[in-house]
Amino acid sequence: MRAAIVGLGVIGKVHAEVLAEQGIELAAVCDIDPAATEGRDCARYADFDEMLERERPDVVHICTPHWLHADMIIKALKRGVNVLAEKPLCIKEEDIARILNAERASDAVLGVCLQNRYNPSTLLAREILAEKRVKYAFGSLLWHRDAAYYASGDWRGKWATEGGGVLINQAIHTLDLLILTCGDPRSVTARTSSLALRDVIEVEDTVCASFGGKVPFGLYATNTAACDMPTEIRFATEDGDTVVLLPDRVLVNGVLVQQGEKGKVRGKRVYGSSHERLIADYYACLAEGRKFPVDGAEGARSVRAALGAYASSGKEVLLSGQSVH
Ligand SMILES: NC(=O)c1ccc[n+]([C@@H]2O[C@H](COP(=O)([O-])OP(=O)(O)OC[C@H]3O[C@@H](n4cnc5c(N)ncnc54)[C@H](O)[C@@H]3O)[C@@H](O)[C@H]2O)c1
Repeated sequence: MRAAIVGLGVIGKVHAEVLAEQGIELAAVCDIDPAATEGRDCARYADFDEMLERERPDVVHICTPHWLHADMIIKALKRGVNVLAEKPLCIKEEDIARILNAERASDAVLGVCLQNRYNPSTLLAREILAEKRVKYAFGSLLWHRDAAYYASGDWRGKWATEGGGVLINQAIHTLDLLILTCGDPRSVTARTSSLALRDVIEVEDTVCASFGGKVPFGLYATNTAACDMPTEIRFATEDGDTVVLLPDRVLVNGVLVQQGEKGKVRGKRVYGSSHERLIADYYACLAEGRKFPVDGAEGARSVRAALGAYASSGKEVLLSGQSVH
């Protein structure tokens, strides 16, 4: 397998490191910033189309800013190149359908990097919860992202290029895990605000959302905490509760049933250590002709819910997009 990576920033480097450890050939890298690809011992490009045309990789890892995901995914799928795209799948409702259509029309495999699905703690909690009836769930993400973070990429903090703030970027994993257990929400009532970062970013630094559906759930997420805290997802069941503290702890009725995982921490600790698990499974699926579980439709679930929350402004919004008030 010959892999390529587009976007060699914070997370593109993590993908490159994992590929090297897993013995997967990195044939080419692409970044508009020449400094980002400098020193890489493979073909180096500044233009994505040229890289696809000349290299024809088996897989391209899309690690670019959010607004570029949809077009890059579609271009690669149209050329029959397998795609592993970083989250979020995209940032516009209309792009979901475009991507899913391109995926359907292509023989290539689209995977979305929602690596927290592969955390041992997530897998254990899902096993435990499969035996119980979940009545309600709540996720809270308290992280620290400051002006320096937002200055580290000109796409950050803007509606056009990031597509939102803490919800569609940092809390998308929390939303994904809530949806995985509770099912797709039918409605959302949400408020977003900009508290500490009002003068720094256009997008929200804080969101509070209540999702209606078969199993209702809520989410509070903020980038205004003084440091990164473990993200908590609490599932209320008829006999108590199961709490997952991302990335690596599970408590059942207050008793710690799992702590710690063996994976290497890459990037920020709050990312967890499951990029290596997800990437290994993606390549194993390709090699074995097995379906990769986190496909375009799976990646779209949290994006739809997040876009509904942005449309809400405190009113209940059906996830078809219609206001019910
Ligand atoms: N799964 C996770 O836990 C996780 C963690 C961090 C980031 N991410 C995601 O990874 C993606 C990238 O985030 P990041 O923090 O690495 O951003 P970044 O700004 O550090 O890196 C983005 C890179 O893309 C390059 N780029 C921009 N436009 C380009 C273009 N047209 N062609 C080629 N290269 C281009 C930039 O020069 C930069 O080097 C985002 O989607 C983000 O949400 C995921």
